[in-house]
Amino acid sequence: MKKHIEAHNVERSFVVWMTGYSSSGKTTIATGLNIRLSEVGVLSEVLDGDVVRRDISNDLGFSHTDRIENIRRVANVAADKLDKGKIVIVSLISPYTEGRLLAKEICGDDRFIETFISSPLDVCESRDVKDLYKKARRGMVKNFTGISDIYQEPKDPDIIIPTNTLTEKESIGLLFNYVMERLKSVR
Ligand code: ADX
Repeated sequence: MKKHIEAHNVERSFVVWMTGYSSSGKTTIATGLNIRLSEVGVLSEVLDGDVVRRDISNDLGFSHTDRIENIRRVANVAADKLDKGKIVIVSLISPYTEGRLLAKEICGDDRFIETFISSPLDVCESRDVKDLYKKARRGMVKNFTGISDIYQEPKDPDIIIPTNTLTEKESIGLLFNYVMERLKSVR
């Protein structure tokens, strides 16, 4: 039976900010979570790194400054959507602690769920969904996260999704249950 726990209410909206290596599963989980929320009548929207970088951030590269700027822009778009009462699902590598802190500040401390999509680098590299690790190893892609640029793991994330030990369905389910609990707790 379809439940109607809607997030059309500004006080109950928040950002599910997913951070993790390329090929860790962020996009898959974002898409899956979005579908599961829609099935129970919760209004949500995905902001995905690859998409964002084709539109609002198409002038940016992958230097430290550009990544922080990318995060700042996405966080501002997310904050705007929060004010419309949506659950915003962000899927960005967001490799630096500094960038995630900035995003949290922009969205608001209590409206920011830091979600660590955790999978060891060698597992992500073996998946290499977009062949970018191979290119990075050959030096064809510069500043590639995990290969030629740092990834600072979140020290105290709100939730960790270990995609190397869970199936796709389990990973999505774990995050979905967490989001639903959070929604109920701010009723
Ligand atoms: S972030 O660091 O600014 O958060 P973002 O998530 O938007 O990164 O974009 C990452 C996507 O851009 C990756 O999924 C990958 O497809 C692509 N990409 C291209 N070059 C790089 C690079 N040097 N480092 C990481 N990702 C890259």
